[in-house]
Amino acid sequence: MHIHILSVIPELMESPLSHSILKRAKEKGLLQVTLHHLRKWAVNEYGQIDDYQYGGGAGMVMMCEPLEKAILELQKETKFDEIIYLTPDGKTLNQSIANNLSLKNNLLLICGHYKGIDQRIRDHYVTMELSIGDYVLSGGETAAIVLVDAIGRLIPGVLNDETSALTDSFQDNLLAPPVYTRPADYNGWKIPDILLSGDLKKIEEWRYEEALKRTQERRPDLLDSI
Ligand code: 6GU
Repeated sequence: MHIHILSVIPELMESPLSHSILKRAKEKGLLQVTLHHLRKWAVNEYGQIDDYQYGGGAGMVMMCEPLEKAILELQKETKFDEIIYLTPDGKTLNQSIANNLSLKNNLLLICGHYKGIDQRIRDHYVTMELSIGDYVLSGGETAAIVLVDAIGRLIPGVLNDETSALTDSFQDNLLAPPVYTRPADYNGWKIPDILLSGDLKKIEEWRYEEALKRTQERRPDLLDSI
């Protein structure tokens, strides 16, 4: 998979892409992420990419021209499966969307800033609009990283233990059960006996019950969709 990201602050995304699972995905050649600086397609020598909004009001809007030029140039090399605009008024990202996107080959992510991008780019080029939750971020970059992480770890071969992604919270609409590691008694806080029983079938049942209980307590809305 190859993910292109268009942004006015690509530097913001360098560190998260160079560590842990995303780093490994890159090293294994399973995921390539290319950051593009939108200013490369600025309308003048001052690097302008935004302007005042028609109708007045505070806040700048990212102009059509740099965005269109960038998209057209990138499309010469790549046929994108989706052009995704990250915006608080997009559809809220969930595991099912991440699962679907992890099956694609080429994605273009557009990070908005200020008041967002000119609506005409959304109308004519963007094929999907995603938000990562009901709160406002200063820009789409942090959201883009969340999306790349959620997608990248699902690409077959990225995780060491292939079953690991399947037992994540949300993968079956259940939150994950509690987990414990050594020692079995810490400060007198003991782990559940069942985990020491060696009875794998019983342990699986216990985990399922705990996952169900946790989901009922914390996220009963998830159970409605099963
Ligand atoms: Cl995708 N962008 C911004 N700026 N804020 C957000 C968001 C995206 N998702 C939630 N809040």
